[in-house]
Amino acid sequence: MIDAADLRTRSDFSIDEMAEILGATRPDEIEEIRRAAENVLLENCGSEVYYRGLIEYSNICQCDCCYCGIRRSNKGVHRYELSVEQIVDAAKWCAQERYGSVVIQSGERRDKAFIKTIVEAVRLIKRETRSDALPQGLGITLSLGEQSLDSYRHFREAGAHRYLLRIETSDPSLFAQIHPNEQSFQSRLESLDALREAGFQVGTGVMIGLPGQTTRHLAGDIAFFKEKDIDMIGMGPFIPHEATPIGQTGYEIDRSTQVQRSLLMIAMTRLAMPDINIAATTALQALDPIGREKGLKYGANVIMPLLTPSEVRSDYLLYPGKPCLDESASQCRACLEARISSIGRTIGYDKWGDSRHALERAAPK
Ligand code: 5AD
Repeated sequence: MIDAADLRTRSDFSIDEMAEILGATRPDEIEEIRRAAENVLLENCGSEVYYRGLIEYSNICQCDCCYCGIRRSNKGVHRYELSVEQIVDAAKWCAQERYGSVVIQSGERRDKAFIKTIVEAVRLIKRETRSDALPQGLGITLSLGEQSLDSYRHFREAGAHRYLLRIETSDPSLFAQIHPNEQSFQSRLESLDALREAGFQVGTGVMIGLPGQTTRHLAGDIAFFKEKDIDMIGMGPFIPHEATPIGQTGYEIDRSTQVQRSLLMIAMTRLAMPDINIAATTALQALDPIGREKGLKYGANVIMPLLTPSEVRSDYLLYPGKPCLDESASQCRACLEARISSIGRTIGYDKWGDSRHALERAAPK
């Protein structure tokens, strides 16, 4: 096992070293890794946790990913689309509550009407959430899958400045196993490059605990994040959904193994990339009631409280067991605040909370 002092002072780990760290099973080793990651986080990013209010705009999706509950072949899903007004209302609530940023996420669509709606919503949010505390309005992150460079440019011009597009796995053959042939690894890579070209801060991420995925694959994912100079990461455990091809193979997960592996992945990513933003995702909480707090203790510094109106929350089910389905946005707020202060961290109210990594790229030292 790598020396504890090395864990805190190095970030240039080899694939072999990262795979070894990710495979840790002894509780004392895991605690050593956790403590090192938490330290690296606090030293490089401080103790603030940034909020991004999550608005799940629509579950209409043209993709057929073999793991995802809202894949187009799942006919059991009630499909919905929020109105621009509903999106803007959720964002205004977010600004009022002093969350500095929102994420608009949606099933993938590339038609003109979709692009137009997003551009309109982004413009309105920027205009209507300006205040003394947030002179430029809320920070806006988009998570709308693969789009053309042109569309990315329109979104950027409208005022969104961060975009999340998960690679799901950086291993091309594993990627091919979990996607239909029509979705290519190459095109995902091109989209990530296009996002950078359009001027976004770029986020990506993977699912952890996929069938056939090893610690070497995960170590390769971190090497991929570094190579692509990624600014922010959202990743969490894979949770089989029964109405999907992978869910129907009988592949079973062990909750605590899945959570532990995800936490180690967060910690390892923090050690390798000290100044990026890493989210403690909702999927972690789906498998463990205090999964998100644990994520923060293992080096994450972003949380995405759900703002989606309660009446459609249960339609946006990417995986089973999604938490907070019957809670309102304000209930989520009170609950999260208590959870975050319980682990000695503070909330970065009224801040966009860009990663230091992205800020330093924009204004090199
Ligand atoms: N388990 C965990 N995460 C999932 N996602 C989709 N389906 C699942 C699942 N069954 C994740 C993917 C996608 C993000 C929006 O949700 O990583 O990019």
